[in-house]
Order: sequence, then structure tokens, then C-alpha cells
Amino acid sequence: MNKPGSFKVIYDTDPGVDDAMALYYALAHPAIEVVGITTTFGNVTVEQAATNALYLCALTGTNIPVTQGVATPLCKPQEAPPAHIHGADGLGNLRSRLSTSNQLDARASAQFIVDMARASPGEITLVAVGPLGNLSLALKLEPQLPQLLREVILMGGTILEPGNVSPVAEANIWNDPHAADDVFTAGWKLTMVGLDVTHRVILPVSLFRQIAAHHQHPATDTLRHAVEFYADFYSGLYPHVAAIHGCFGHDVLAFIYLTNPELFTLETGRIRVVTEGLAQGQTIMKRAPFEEHPQADWGSDTPLTQVCMQVQAQVCKTIFERTLMAPWL
Ligand code: BDR
Ligand code: CA
Repeated sequence: MNKPGSFKVIYDTDPGVDDAMALYYALAHPAIEVVGITTTFGNVTVEQAATNALYLCALTGTNIPVTQGVATPLCKPQEAPPAHIHGADGLGNLRSRLSTSNQLDARASAQFIVDMARASPGEITLVAVGPLGNLSLALKLEPQLPQLLREVILMGGTILEPGNVSPVAEANIWNDPHAADDVFTAGWKLTMVGLDVTHRVILPVSLFRQIAAHHQHPATDTLRHAVEFYADFYSGLYPHVAAIHGCFGHDVLAFIYLTNPELFTLETGRIRVVTEGLAQGQTIMKRAPFEEHPQADWGSDTPLTQVCMQVQAQVCKTIFERTLMAPWL
């Protein structure tokens, strides 16, 4: 059953373990109504991303429209998906799957975004947590899209925190830097939830075990399994994450920003993405107050983006736990 809520959301995603956590946060939250899920390559192929979105929804008994979107980056060659982080299937290599019957909506993801925005002008928030090709294509199909959507919240990029695929680049932006630059220069109300805040919120495996034990449900059990795989990766990489056998909640933070923006400290700036070379995928912010620079492309024709720079991490964890422990299944 879809639920009415204060925020109507299209969720653009590449599930992916933290994408799955974020989806279940959105489905569990009383103030969020997910009106569609659009999928992209990224953590897995786009076919697998769509399969996973359908499966995760079916497990909860929802039949939200799911579409398949871009399969490759706009310009750069495609990389192999990171099976060592999310599993070859994107969900921590599930041992088996239940049989389900949810079917794809036949529209391409970009067309779906445009159709939904035209049907409910000013009402829909786009929460994007993968590479940004679907948004870039949707902008080409409907140049008025920034006026038709309520706002865009994206998980991606980094300003002061080191990158996670290079010293300066975050994975979602690095996967399709040309699409990301289209998104940062489009002129919608845009908030970036990047590594500056997502690296502050470490969720322990024990929390997902507790949620699964509480609900005793295939959906939360699938999430627990996926998180155990994902946490092994992050715990192998960072001693402070290993200390609690945990993982970063990356994509979840985009939804927590939607429901609880008061937990974040924002800065406003003009963001451009480096599209080529050693620094490709870097999100560079020109911060207010704006000086004039002689180099083109940094003037007032580059729109403003709100950037999350700090977060109340402990409160985020509490809200995530409370939302997933509530009776939503
Ligand atoms: C982002 O990259 C993906 O691996 C995650 O799902 C998240 O969206 C973090 O850099
Ligand atoms: Ca993601």
C-alpha cells in the first residue's frame, strides 16, 4: 500500500546496500510517500538495479512504479560495478530470493520523471542517490523540469572530506561527471548531501540485527544480510568503522535531510564538476561571499547549491532506528 505523506518523492537509485537502507527508511517514514523509483547503473548494472528495486518493494508488499534508466555514463567509458562493496547482486550476494511478481513500468526513467513532474507541478521531490544520468536526460527532455519539481536532494560529492574513489572524487559523481555537472548547473532548488556528512554517520550491523529480530520479516532480514556484507567491506577499510563493525549510511542521509533538515549545517555555493583527467568527479564549490574570478564558468549563471557540511550524527542514528523499529511492515 502506498501511503499519503507530506513529501511526494521520486527515488533515483542504484541498489546497492545503502540504497536499500534508504528505501526502507522512506517506506517506513510516515511523512514520505514514494511515488516512483527510477534506476541507474552504478553499484550494479541498471538491469540488476531495477530487479533489486522491484524485489525490495515486493518484499514489503508495495507495488510502487519502478522504471529502468541509464545503463552507462554519458561520455566516459563504463567501469565494472563494485561487487566487492555491495556484492555481485548489489544486496550482499543473497543466497536465494523469494518468488515475487512486481513488474517494471515500461517507461524509461527520464521519461517517467518528466511525466510525473508535469502531472504534479511543484509537488515532487527528487531524491537521487546514484550516478546522475537519469536527471541529465530528463533535463534534456523537459528544460522546464527545475520549475516543475519541488526540489532535488542528491547524495554525492564532497567538499572538505577526502573522496572515496580518488583523493577528491565521490563515487556517484565520479561514475558520471558530465551528468553531474548538468545537474549542478540546471537551476533547481538543489541540496548536496556528500561525504562531508555521510562519513560522520556510521551504522552498526548490530542495529540491523536488532531491526530484523524485532520485525521477523523477509524485508528486514534481507537488509540485515546485505548490511553484514557491506559492513565487512567498510570495516576492512577504516579502523574506526571496524571498532563498531559498521558501515556508512550514505544514501540514508539524503532522506534524513528531507525529513529533518534541522540536523544539518548548510553552506551555499556554486558547484562545478571536473569532467576529465586526474581530478575527474571532483565537486568544486565557489563559496559565498562571491568574489569575481577572471576564469569563465564561475559567474552568476552557475546556480546556487546548498551543501551539507556538518550533521548531528547521533540524532540521525536515533531517527533511523526509531523509524525502522516502528510498525511499518
Ligand atoms: C555512494 O556510492 C554508492 O556506492 C553508494 O550507494 C552511495 O550512493 C557513496 O559514495
Ligand atoms: Ca547509491
